[in-house]
Amino acid sequence: MTKTIVLTGITTTGTPHLGNYVGAIRPAIAASKDPTVAPFYFLADYHALIKCQEPERIRQSSLEIAATWLALGLDTANAVFYRQSDVPEILELSWMLSCVASKGLLNRAHAYKAAVADNEQSGENDADKGISLGLFGYPVLMAADILLFNVNKVPVGKDQVQHIEMARDIAGRFNHIYGEHFVLPEAVIDEHGATLTGLDGRKMSKSYNNTIPLFEPEKKLRKLINKIKTNSLEPGEAKDTEGCALFSIYKSFATPAQVTEIRQRYADGIAWGEMKQVLFEQINEHITPARERYEALLNAPEHIEMQLQEGAEKALAISVPFMKELRKAVGIARIGT
Ligand code: TRP
Repeated sequence: MTKTIVLTGITTTGTPHLGNYVGAIRPAIAASKDPTVAPFYFLADYHALIKCQEPERIRQSSLEIAATWLALGLDTANAVFYRQSDVPEILELSWMLSCVASKGLLNRAHAYKAAVADNEQSGENDADKGISLGLFGYPVLMAADILLFNVNKVPVGKDQVQHIEMARDIAGRFNHIYGEHFVLPEAVIDEHGATLTGLDGRKMSKSYNNTIPLFEPEKKLRKLINKIKTNSLEPGEAKDTEGCALFSIYKSFATPAQVTEIRQRYADGIAWGEMKQVLFEQINEHITPARERYEALLNAPEHIEMQLQEGAEKALAISVPFMKELRKAVGIARIGT
């Protein structure tokens, strides 16, 4: 059976929150248990350098993200779970791809264009002010992550679809010049990996500062849930589930039968305080076993490192010979070989 190769990277700049869990981590871990899928999941620490120049934050985030995935039961027997910087071939390939990617293509990347637009809006003379070469080349590094492992499918949010298209474009050019070396990857926009509502009713996102960290200790979790915005309807007044942040979050952690029951309680006028208690218990119950494993893992970082080293070995077993082939293809070789 040929397995579908699925790859995703997680930039190591923050602490995973409930939105990351529902939108990306939970579906990825479910996929890691699917025998028809060969998953490649990695800590994108080279990508982290593009937007973060705080070494301690990158170190801490790498630890927390790795511990999170392991605590949630990632099947590392099936999945290749590694740190990007343990696979230097990614950088080497990134250079080769830089030499076939057209600058005009990268000029059109959303992240770069948004940075230029910000400069223009603020009346800046230099449209490129504060934009690093790393940011400009971000899609090439991402293409290298993907093409090095001949990935078939890349689950992404809508904001990343353009990057996958660029990876296809760059792969096509390389293949055209040097022969068929790369598989063209496809973006899969995950429909179940729903977006979660945040504390203020907008999408839960680090950039809105409205997140609930995934493994927040119980007391703090309760406090944050109490902060979720509601309207001013009194207990006993019928309430609408539509547009309600509490309900929307509840739905992501409940069975369909539980959701039906809660709809009825809204119609019957459940008090907001009570609904917050229901939501807290639901999430807390769901998260507690993984939170315990997470805390144990943070106290045994050598165990996390060992898992990453095993992952790196599996990745290198593919990347090293493939890079040899690619070097040969472009004409980089020892004399006389
Ligand atoms: N750019 C992705 C993000 O910010 C992270 C990432 C890096 C990635 N390399 C990747 C995602 C390769 C998918 C495939 O979310």
